[in-house]
Amino acid sequence: MDNITIALPKGRMAEKSFELFTSCGLSQNLLNDISRKLVIYDMGSHLKFILVKPTDVPTYVEHGAADIGVCGKDVLLELNRDCYEVLDLKFGKCKMVVAGPKARKDNFLSNKRVATKFPAIAEEFYRKKGENVEIIKLNGSVELAPIVGLSEVIVDIVETGTTLRENGLTIYEEIFSSSARLIVNKASMKTKSDRVKEIIYILKNAVDN
Ligand code: PRP
Repeated sequence: MDNITIALPKGRMAEKSFELFTSCGLSQNLLNDISRKLVIYDMGSHLKFILVKPTDVPTYVEHGAADIGVCGKDVLLELNRDCYEVLDLKFGKCKMVVAGPKARKDNFLSNKRVATKFPAIAEEFYRKKGENVEIIKLNGSVELAPIVGLSEVIVDIVETGTTLRENGLTIYEEIFSSSARLIVNKASMKTKSDRVKEIIYILKNAVDN
């Protein structure tokens, strides 16, 4: 049996991924091993899980350090890495939105400043709209930007809406819906075809039912 390495995004999505892998019998219950470990082996099923930063999952998969990865559609669109997206895992659902202060929702602003962790997505969105904006790349706590005058709006992920609400911000426009996707290294799809396809098949059955 081929050994398969699976890159999982640390945090909530890793827990959901382990729940899925366990519930469909692909691995043992490894949830208790997540703590600070970066590599978790499931000897019985010849699976090795590596826990990486969510935005690094496509990099590990593209370079073949992992055969398979679990990654948000938002991250895939932002990074545009060279790997196969094979399955919507239907968890980690969220929306990519343009948001800003409630009070200024209806004010038209030209030459907006847009703070975001997703500069490529924001750039493409405004390019298609034909709007000239300044993109300001941040690495987190993006909701702060309009509050302190760093930007007029943000392009960011909304899951429950709590962060926006608690910071007096509201959604101006929705850009797309995102969820976790299964991605596969292009070479592994050929060299480990049987095992990779079996894993995709089992996961597909689990998410469809
Ligand atoms: C994400 C996102 C929002 C928040 C949305 O940030 O960028 O800030 O979650 O979730 P909510 O709608 O449920 O409130 P994350 O938690 O990844 O932290 P970060 O800002 O440090 O990147």
